[in-house]
Amino acid sequence: MKNDKFIVSFPETKYEDILVEKHQNLAECCSIDNSPIMFGCRTGICGTCLVFVTGDILPVSEMEREVLETIVPDRIPSHIPDIAQPRLACQLELTNNIAIYTDILTN
Ligand code: FES
Repeated sequence: MKNDKFIVSFPETKYEDILVEKHQNLAECCSIDNSPIMFGCRTGICGTCLVFVTGDILPVSEMEREVLETIVPDRIPSHIPDIAQPRLACQLELTNNIAIYTDILTN
């Protein structure tokens, strides 16, 4: 059976999982009330929405890669798994279940 909804989880935070439609953009379903993600421009320019993601996600675009190169810190906080990929949340289109980590613990 084809799965058209996916779960976005926020480990180590107070936030509950969110159910997201396939190919929905993460910025469309996350707010300050239901996630630890902070958004700014929502167009992939400002870098405010930097997150670390585990799970299968679509590849980084060239524009996103350029922004990430300038904003990803040299030292990743220890609560973020080594396998987590830095991404801009506003540029993430969901095609699988994922877990999102931010650089701030929000318990
Ligand atoms: S909100 Fe500005 S890059 Fe994502």
